[in-house]
Amino acid sequence: MSSESPDTGDVGKPDGPAARIAQLKAVIAYHAERYYELDDPEIPDADYDKLLRELIEIERTHPDLITTDSPSQVVGGPRNETFAPVAHEMPMMSLHNAFGREELSAWSDRAVKRLEDRPVPAFATELKFDGLAISLRYEDGILVQGATRGDGRVGEDVTRNVMTIADIPHRLPADAPRVLEVRGEVYMRISAFQALNVRQVELAEAAGRPPKLFINPRNTAAGSLRQKDASITAERKLSFFCYQLGVVDNGPELTSHTQTLEWLGSLGLPVNEHSLSLASVEAVADRIVELESARHDFDYEFDGVVIKVDDLGLQAELGADAKAPRWAIAYKLPPEEATTTLIDIEVSIGPSGQATPFARLETVRVGGVDVSTATLHNQDQVAVKDVRPGDTVIVRRAGDVIPEVVGPVMSVRPDDSSPWRFPKDCPVCGQPLVRTDGVAATFCVNFHCPRQIRGRIEHFASRYAMDIEWLGEKNVDLFVSEGLVSDVADLYSLDFDKLLEFERFGQKLVDNLRDAVEASKTRPLGNLLFGLRIPEIGQVNAQTLAEAFGSLTGITGASVEDLAAVDGFGDVIAQSVHNWFRRPDTVDLIDRLVAAGLTTTAAERDTSQLQTLAGQVVVVSGTLDGFTRDGAREAIVSRGGKSPGSVSKKTMALVVGAEPGASKVSKADSAGVPIIDEAAFMALLDTGRLPT
Ligand code: IVH
Repeated sequence: MSSESPDTGDVGKPDGPAARIAQLKAVIAYHAERYYELDDPEIPDADYDKLLRELIEIERTHPDLITTDSPSQVVGGPRNETFAPVAHEMPMMSLHNAFGREELSAWSDRAVKRLEDRPVPAFATELKFDGLAISLRYEDGILVQGATRGDGRVGEDVTRNVMTIADIPHRLPADAPRVLEVRGEVYMRISAFQALNVRQVELAEAAGRPPKLFINPRNTAAGSLRQKDASITAERKLSFFCYQLGVVDNGPELTSHTQTLEWLGSLGLPVNEHSLSLASVEAVADRIVELESARHDFDYEFDGVVIKVDDLGLQAELGADAKAPRWAIAYKLPPEEATTTLIDIEVSIGPSGQATPFARLETVRVGGVDVSTATLHNQDQVAVKDVRPGDTVIVRRAGDVIPEVVGPVMSVRPDDSSPWRFPKDCPVCGQPLVRTDGVAATFCVNFHCPRQIRGRIEHFASRYAMDIEWLGEKNVDLFVSEGLVSDVADLYSLDFDKLLEFERFGQKLVDNLRDAVEASKTRPLGNLLFGLRIPEIGQVNAQTLAEAFGSLTGITGASVEDLAAVDGFGDVIAQSVHNWFRRPDTVDLIDRLVAAGLTTTAAERDTSQLQTLAGQVVVVSGTLDGFTRDGAREAIVSRGGKSPGSVSKKTMALVVGAEPGASKVSKADSAGVPIIDEAAFMALLDTGRLPT
């Protein structure tokens, strides 16, 4: 195995096919070692697949150059000699991949052709779990061995380790066959992975050193299973799904894969619930689209969909080639990780002054979109990941989550690189940045920083605050940079006719904007309070505050005790609100807003509804059919409930519509908060009860 770090692909390709094959073999061998032996891959699976595909493509056009030791001909990677070898009586094969609809159809066409005049077979579809394949062996119903796949013929004995996995039964029911080998995937739940990293941070903090974070659930699962000390495996809380049989002696007559899975489930083995048998390749393609859109709704990762000819007799007829069966294919979903060059690290200032480091990247396609910037979250994250300008980095974009830099590819780090330092001053206003002890974020605390002024005005005009149409980021930018507006009250004394002097404004736009600003004066007090960005006062608290006091003067005249007595508030919020209203610039701002004629009273509360959700917290995520986002919140609030933007232990239920936020779903899942659909939500509004 190569121990040197070769380049990862494109640079310096040699001319002839034989030379390129030799180079690809060396590069693939290096990465295979990191992946299979060290459980510490340097590049994403997609990059590895790309190298392998290039090799296969050259070999296809130059078959004379294929050797038996080519990575295209062998399954997986080699064994690690520290575990006892286990010869697989029935080899553990790999799967061929399909990237896209056409390759899927080509595979099914080939299968249909081989089956000659038989009707198109049914296809069993299931998730391709992102973990580590293992084979479990039960004799007379007792778990006697667990082995990794290894090179497909000989794997490693990890019996003691698999015994620590809660999903894996040690004993099967009395009617289990004399010998049963079952194959499946050991994986780590996302919630277990996140909990593990939280623990890593706690341990590091206690020891006063930077934390070493685990990169992703797959590598962590693989590394955790192959621990010499099985008690470490036990701590890592691994899970298991089974999907295939190995040797079976004295088992039942099974005719289909679907039946096999049902039988395995009846023996108490964990079978995934999302498997389906489908009648055509078109139905399979639809199912793939469905699963892809649900990719982030589950508490585990999957990187594809496995399609298997369901009938076991037809499987036997189709057989296998050297590496994989002809009766199955792995449809790979677009990779969510890719490598690219980190050009530079910059800091952006958010609307509240938060300074966030982000990476400027050589554009790369990941998670189905082109990415050229990715967040680095905060100063500590840059330090923990030690990413530097000039590094080749792994970028991840999962679903609608913003792209992030996972870490550097150390083996190709330039010799002259040096650690990146967080800037001392705000890149917008030049004032010093401030980081308070114990807080991860760094802030520009200059109240007059143009970015913050813009941020406050944008927030004030936003939909759930004063909802000022036509204002938009570009106009706010222009007004602030031209000195026309320096706080939200200035919007109401803006000389609209003067705007015609700017090229981007015509009469129509000016009129629309004037009307929109005028209309905003009628927004109820709750919206105004939310729009003012009072610390601790989000949308829900703003509404509560407006309802509790009824008017702006009621709030400005309230004592800390009055404020603390508001349902759900307490001392911290009360003090924050009290302080904010007593700041001299706030007093001036409020005076000018009142003088401009803004509404300073709360909206009439809808009391016609039965208070079915009195005191309850219900969170909504994703798009519902029968409610707008505001409408759903209104329906909850008018029944006495609250509907904040995030899930906590106090949440009664999470209502999910189309494309819900993955973080809310996984938080609800791990906090044991019931997740309900729209129909159950309607029933909940009516009765105050969750489905049983
Ligand atoms: S079937 C002979 N089904 O993918 C067929 N494999 O790339 C054996 N995998 O080695 C595999 N989910 O580690 C099968 N539902 C699934 C799977 C699955 C994940 C893994 C497995 C396999 C690899 C092939």
